[in-house]
Amino acid sequence: MRRRSASKRGEESEMRGKSFGSARFDEHLVVLTDPKSIAAEQYRVLRSRMEHLSQEKGARTFIVTSPVVGEGKSMTTANLAISLSQSRDRRVALVDCDLRRPTLHRLFGMRMREGFIDVLEERTPLETALVPIEHPLLPPGALSFLPAGKANAASPEWLGSSKTDKLITLLSERFDLVLFDTPPILPLADAAVLGGKVDGALLVLRAGRTSTETLSLAMQSVDLQNWVGVILNGVDFERSSQYGGIYATYQKTYSAHAIEGRGEIND
Ligand SMILES: Nc1ncnc2c1ncn2[C@@H]1O[C@H](COP(=O)(O)OP(=O)(O)O)[C@@H](O)[C@H]1O
Ligand SMILES: [Mg+2]
Repeated sequence: MRRRSASKRGEESEMRGKSFGSARFDEHLVVLTDPKSIAAEQYRVLRSRMEHLSQEKGARTFIVTSPVVGEGKSMTTANLAISLSQSRDRRVALVDCDLRRPTLHRLFGMRMREGFIDVLEERTPLETALVPIEHPLLPPGALSFLPAGKANAASPEWLGSSKTDKLITLLSERFDLVLFDTPPILPLADAAVLGGKVDGALLVLRAGRTSTETLSLAMQSVDLQNWVGVILNGVDFERSSQYGGIYATYQKTYSAHAIEGRGEIND
């Protein structure tokens, strides 16, 4: 077996969830912390589907949601935003619109600070609230993060306001792609409200957990014209005895939904 140099090993261990400047990245951000993993590769596959979709339909703004909590929306949205910002000369914004249970800031090793809701309520200018994400695997300036901000129980009401429309427009003028993390659709209206304001909606399902009944309820419970794809999160390739078969199925699932989608973005 070939031995890696001490400096190379040092670099790799530094990338696995250690600090860069003041930021500390969560190990679940595999696109940065384990870029050679199968999971990171799958985010790159998804990235190319989204690039295709975006170019074909001129779509720039997307929500990511799921039927219920804990299916991997936040983790998926963050990894996808990172992957998209690594490709070509592109500026990507990642926005935490889960005003009830915001978690994205933790993935990037931050405490909650002013963000989306503070910009909406005109307490903070957008430029001040946007956080540039810096990492050796990211081109400088490619990824900006807008945390949820100092939200309270009334904050989600703002999602339906014209101020939200204006902020989405502003973000889409400044960035090539904008991804919004949202609460789950089944118990709450937030994702449905935002879904009506953006160019496309992606649905995250957790392999082995999301039941078909839940999925069906989720799809029916909101009138989202903009569904563009389904992401199956948490397929365990490495421990499966049928690795090859599952891998193929997984790829197929991605392709079937993410490429063909509903094809209704802004049509
Ligand atoms: N594929 C996965 N592999 C390992 N852990 C995962 C995976 N998907 C989600 N998780 C973990 O499950 C928890 C819920 O994920 P999260 O992205 O916060 O879900 P949601 O935003 O849908 O509520 C987090 O601790 C996350 O790190
Ligand atoms: Mg979440």
